[in-house]
Amino acid sequence: MKKAITSRADVEELVNRFYDRVKADDLLGPIFHDVARVNWDKHLPIMYDFWCSILLDEDVYHRNAMIPHLQLHKRYPLQEAHFQRWLQLFHETVNTYFEGEKAALAKLRATSIAGVMRTKLGLLQQIQTSHQK
Ligand code: HEM
Repeated sequence: MKKAITSRADVEELVNRFYDRVKADDLLGPIFHDVARVNWDKHLPIMYDFWCSILLDEDVYHRNAMIPHLQLHKRYPLQEAHFQRWLQLFHETVNTYFEGEKAALAKLRATSIAGVMRTKLGLLQQIQTSHQK
């Protein structure tokens, strides 16, 4: 049965379920495993804090989420298809397990943050290209 997102335990479940899909995904899985070589024991608690800040108004995430993506993008250029898949898996996860206002907010914020990231990475690409000319 679907439930509302009301506690840190719910957020942890959302994040864990989402990354289960990411890890198993043919397009995104290898980026996390082989390119970024993510340490999941470190990454998952950071993601719990990130989403708790957004969904539960907890003041627990004080990092810059852009930095690892800029670093990753320099080594392995992220493309539109990667963001489409990321959002698809995130929306599917939310829709499968959760409902209500916070579930809707999670999808809305994921979409808008992905938009900001794409814009910033697109700008980075343009700057790099213009320097090479
Ligand atoms: C193409 C899509 C994406 C890919 C491939 C990707 C990949 C990654 C990778 C490899 C890391 C570093 C993990 C580590 O080594 O610890 C990371 C961190 C993170 N990602 Fe993404 N990501 C994507 C999209 C997003 C989006 C759309 C969001 C937000 C809605 C997001 C939120 C975060 C956050 C909060 C962190 C932790 C940053 C920190 O260190 O504080 N990512 N991501």
